[in-house]
Amino acid sequence: MTRLDGVVDLDVSGATISRHLYGHFAEHLGRCIYEGFWVGEDSDIQNTSGVRDDVVQALKDISIPNLRWPGGCFADEYHWMNGVGPREERPSMVNTHWGDVVEDNSFGTHEFMRLCELLGADPYVSGNVGSGTVAEMSDWIEYLTRSGDAPMSRLRREHGRSDPWTVPFWGIGNENWGCGGNMTAEQYTQLAAQFATYCRNHDGNELYRIAAGPSKDDYHWTETLMKSISSLGGPVTARKHNGWQALSFHYYTHASDDWQHKGSATEFTAAEYHETMVRAWRIDEIVRGHVRVMDAYDPEAAVGLVCDEWGTWWDVEPGTNPGFLFQQNTLRDALVAGLHFDVFHENARRLVMANIAQTVNVLQAMVLTDGARMVLTPTYHVFAMNAGHQDATSHAVQVTSADAAYEGEQGSYRTLTTTVSSKDGSALVSLTNLDVEGPATVRLDLRGRNWEISRARVLAGATVQAHNTVDAPDAVAPASFDGARRDGDTLVVDLPPHSFATVELTLS
Ligand code: AHR
Repeated sequence: MTRLDGVVDLDVSGATISRHLYGHFAEHLGRCIYEGFWVGEDSDIQNTSGVRDDVVQALKDISIPNLRWPGGCFADEYHWMNGVGPREERPSMVNTHWGDVVEDNSFGTHEFMRLCELLGADPYVSGNVGSGTVAEMSDWIEYLTRSGDAPMSRLRREHGRSDPWTVPFWGIGNENWGCGGNMTAEQYTQLAAQFATYCRNHDGNELYRIAAGPSKDDYHWTETLMKSISSLGGPVTARKHNGWQALSFHYYTHASDDWQHKGSATEFTAAEYHETMVRAWRIDEIVRGHVRVMDAYDPEAAVGLVCDEWGTWWDVEPGTNPGFLFQQNTLRDALVAGLHFDVFHENARRLVMANIAQTVNVLQAMVLTDGARMVLTPTYHVFAMNAGHQDATSHAVQVTSADAAYEGEQGSYRTLTTTVSSKDGSALVSLTNLDVEGPATVRLDLRGRNWEISRARVLAGATVQAHNTVDAPDAVAPASFDGARRDGDTLVVDLPPHSFATVELTLS
């Protein structure tokens, strides 16, 4: 039996956990936009303005805070003007990154903004740096956010939308070290400053501009960007410098280094499970690495760190288009999500946003669709059970026991991880037990407030390969949990093997 003992001061506040750490990502890739979100007004599938109602409701139920679009790699070959105006007149293009399919641009700016309205989510638009121009990006922002008689505002009105929209988040390119133009850090840093200059705030709309940062642990990229905005002797005041306010990085979890064989989503061995967890834990080292570099140039954390692509990336499901990145989702994926969230929460002072890749039918999805049917994945349930952390105050868990750990051929990793936060008179405790075989006990001495357990839930399954299908949609679903109890001032939670659990407390 592994165990974790810790002390938590509920009257000592850490950073606020931004709701945007629970952000999402929808790219023109495979069946994410088309079929996943967009079915068109004439579809037999129940929809509002062409967007399927079941998917919208599922995402509203987990309080989706923001949605990043249109990519990904697709963003740097997307020319927004092709996606506005009457649909039948929109030019098509080839989606060279994803399946080499013809994109007819029937889902464009107006459709995306309507989707965000239906979701109640903030739009996060990624502009094209790799193959676009500064003027094109600048015009898009004018089109979206400016009222009055400006040329782009007039065009928007001609296309049927009179009021401008609010667009809080703006990405300056995507993976410009790779699919977004194969640039060096130095080249991109210069371009980021140039593009950001012309990403104007129109009327009351204030953009939070996000520079495209590094891949994984490329700290040189982060340092090059940070150096460009730091000034000798004084603090970085983000909004004054080069026009961008945050930088992003991407990190994906695979079960191997072999890009051609990333491993099956559902048929994996114990060794692949351990390999996955060793690699998933790298998110901890990588976030801290970027934070360290940013702290050196911006100790006040005025510049935000964003992880706008994360998640598992397996081989596609047999028989599906390799360019569509469609994969199943098991309890293993849910545990990877639980671990990531604990790392994100711990770094909430600097980490202001994260976006799982991707929301529907692509990579580590929340929702898988099959015609008119829809399945919620185990990962979805982690988002649902953790929703109470959004905009809550974090409370550090001071671990007093030795770390529970797995050690084996694949390396070693911690098997128990937890977050405690509070908001509006209640607290939420999340617990992830990565031990594939053994149960675990967590004992948290909760001080500083009176508390009682109000609800406990667990996400577990007979095996880590357990997953949901249209025929068995609730094979992995949250269940009420009797493994949490109070022992004096200590919250004791007995976790089953490979499980994720949440305990809600009422505070007084
Ligand atoms: O999410 C799939 C792809 O992964 C994105 O398009 C790209 O940014 C990343 O390499």
